Amino acid sequence: MVLAVYFGTRKPPDGGTPPTVRTAEGAKPEVLARGKYLFEHGSACIYCHSEHDTALWGWPVKPETAGAGQCFDSKTFGLPATVCAPNLTNTPEGLGRWTDEQIITAIREGLDWKGRPLDPMMPYEEFRNMSDEDVRAVVAYLRTLPPSSKTYPVPTADHLPPAPIVPRLTGPVAAVHRDDPGYGEYMAHIALCGHCHHSQEEHPRPFGGGGEFDGPAGREIAANLTSHPTGVTGRLTKEQFVGMFESWGTIEPTPSPTGPQKAIMPRLVFGGLTADDVRAIYDYIHAQPPVDSTPAVAAPGQKGDQPMGDK
Ligand code: HEC
Ligand code: HEC
Repeated sequence: MVLAVYFGTRKPPDGGTPPTVRTAEGAKPEVLARGKYLFEHGSACIYCHSEHDTALWGWPVKPETAGAGQCFDSKTFGLPATVCAPNLTNTPEGLGRWTDEQIITAIREGLDWKGRPLDPMMPYEEFRNMSDEDVRAVVAYLRTLPPSSKTYPVPTADHLPPAPIVPRLTGPVAAVHRDDPGYGEYMAHIALCGHCHHSQEEHPRPFGGGGEFDGPAGREIAANLTSHPTGVTGRLTKEQFVGMFESWGTIEPTPSPTGPQKAIMPRLVFGGLTADDVRAIYDYIHAQPPVDSTPAVAAPGQKGDQPMGDK
C-alpha cells in the first residue's frame, strides 16, 4: 500500500541537520494573545494535545504538558486504534522543523508535512473555517509553548481515510471579527460545538446532540443544544447560559470520591471563553432549527437515554 511509506516518523526528512526553528519573534503581543486564547479556550487545542488529571473535576491539564501531546487509548475511548495527539512544541520532536505553512496546512486541511492525511480526530474539518489571521496567531503562539522532547507514534494506516475528509482550501480565508454578523457561527465551528453536539445518525441534526463518546468515566452523550424546550438554549436564557460557562471558569478542580469524572465536554477549557464569545455562540445556536430530543428518552433501554447531559 502506497501510504505505508508515510508511516513511522513525524520528523521532516532533514532530521539530521540542525532544526530550522521558526520563532514567534516579531509577532505582536495582541497576535500572541489571540493565539493563546484560541489554543487554551476558543479552539481547545490544549484539551487534546496535553495530559490531564482525570481524577479531578473537569480533567485539568497538567500544566507542564501543555501542548506536549497525549494518547487516547483505544479501549478507554472506544476507538478502532489508539490515537495520539502529538507534541506541538517548538522542538525537533515537536513542530520545530515544520514551517509555519506546513503547520497551517495540518490544522486546516488535515495533511502533515509530507502529505499524510491526519486522523480526523484532529478536527481540521472545523478548523478549515479558521481565518488566515487566526491560524497564524495560533502558530505564532505554538512557537512559544514550553519545549518538550516527547515523541508519539503515527496512527496505524488501516483505520485512516486515504485522503483528508474535506477538500483542500482554494484561497485565503477572510477574518471574522467579534462585531461581524457571522462571528457566532464562526466560533461555534472553531470551538467545535457542532463537531461534538450532533447525533451519529446518517443525517445528523446540527446541535441536536445524541452523539456518544466513551471515556474514563464511561459513556457520555452529547447534550441537545438547540432552542427546543428539550434543548439547552431552549431551557436557558442567554445570560443563564453565559453564567454556566462563567461558573466552569471559576471552579477549583477537586478530587472526585467516585472515580473518574465525566469530562468529554471540555468545561474547564470553555469556562475560559469570553462572555461575548459565549453570547455570540448562544445567538447562533439558538437560531438553528430546534431538535426534539424526547424520542431518545421515550425508548427505555436504548442508547441515548440521557439527551440533556445534565448532572
Ligand atoms: C479533538 C482532539 C484534537 C483537538 C481539539 C486538536 N487536535 Fe491537533 N491533532 C489531534 C490528533 C489525534 C492528531 C494526530 C493525527 C495523526 O497523527 O494522524 C493531531 C495532529 C495535529 C497536528 C499534526 C502534528 C503532527 O506531528 O503530525 C497539528 C499541527 C495539530 N494537531 C495542531 C492542532 C491545533 C493548533 C489545534 C487547535 C487549533 C488542535 N490541533 C486541536 C487531535 C486534536
Ligand atoms: C469533545 C466534545 C465536545 C465539545 C467540543 C463540546 N461539547 Fe458540549 N458536551 C459534550 C458532551 C459529551 C456533553 C454531555 C455530557 C456532560 O454534560 O458532561 C456536553 C454537554 C454540554 C452542555 C450541557 C451542560 C449541562 O451541564 O447542562 C452544554 C451547555 C454544552 N455541552 C455546550 C457546548 C458548547 C457551547 C460547545 C462549544 C463551545 C461545546 N459544548 C463543545 C461534548 C462536547
